[in-house]
Amino acid sequence: MNKIKKVALITGASAGLGQEFAKQLAGQGCDLVLVARRENLLENIATEIVENWPGTLITNIKADLSEPSAPREIFDELLDLGISPNYLINNAGSAGPDFFDEIPWEEHLNYMTLMQTSVAEMCHRFIPKMLSKKFGRVINVSSVAGRISRAGDCHYGPMKAYLVALSEALNASTHNHGVNVSALCPGFTHTDFHQVGDLEEMKENTPRFIWYSAQTVVQEGLRAVEKGRSIQVSGRLYRWIDPLFQSVWTRKIFQINRQ
Ligand SMILES: NC(=O)c1ccc[n+]([C@@H]2O[C@H](COP(=O)([O-])OP(=O)(O)OC[C@H]3O[C@@H](n4cnc5c(N)ncnc54)[C@H](OP(=O)(O)O)[C@@H]3O)[C@@H](O)[C@H]2O)c1
Repeated sequence: MNKIKKVALITGASAGLGQEFAKQLAGQGCDLVLVARRENLLENIATEIVENWPGTLITNIKADLSEPSAPREIFDELLDLGISPNYLINNAGSAGPDFFDEIPWEEHLNYMTLMQTSVAEMCHRFIPKMLSKKFGRVINVSSVAGRISRAGDCHYGPMKAYLVALSEALNASTHNHGVNVSALCPGFTHTDFHQVGDLEEMKENTPRFIWYSAQTVVQEGLRAVEKGRSIQVSGRLYRWIDPLFQSVWTRKIFQINRQ
């Protein structure tokens, strides 16, 4: 008799960490739902995955998660297809605008929708079915930037901090019912993130030893959610630094505005 395969829904699967999640979860035997705006990239990734892991069923969904309707549309489309994910990887994200950028407030709101409310709504819509099946694994990709507030970062860091708080509260509420929720907090990771966010110069000016591969970050994230850890800081260096970030004294230093 064929074993029923698990299904993993991954947002931001067209590049970087999302693409790596897709490959590692296909390697673990999951079918996939891949979500992003660049459909052509999703198709290329799906082709590569099927070549490497034949038999993987892949559904691509083109969606812009900065639009408030996107999580509901993704949920409805999967309901119509009879697909209910066992893994939910809320990974889509970008560096985004500066908090004080003089762009229309609507553009700030779109960014907050992508980084925050879309993640909350995906959890709100998909976790109840996981609870009814007594199995679910949810990773909300946060950041080391969400572990400490710092002068000059009033958008990205605070939104990632919300994902940490949300994941902790969700995990406390659901892990006794078979659903583990983790906030994955990577530090600097080699992906397209810094190129997309115009941060390449910053990347060139930082030492190599503070950079980790997407492969390592994703492996650590999948291991952590399996173990039921609500927060996983990724990379040995960042795990060592994290307790310092939580100290009152370090937090004061990070709040000094050097500009
Ligand atoms: N790289 C790092 O150093 C680092 C460190 C800590 C945390 N993170 C977090 O890791 C996550 C993944 O980033 P990455 O490093 O893999 O960056 P990346 O290589 O630039 O990938 C970002 C992914 O997010 C998707 N995305 C962006 N905006 C979207 C939107 N409006 N709607 C739907 N999908 C969207 C992109 O797809 P499309 O453009 O095709 O839509 C792409 O697949 C992010 O949440 C980021 O904040 C990254």
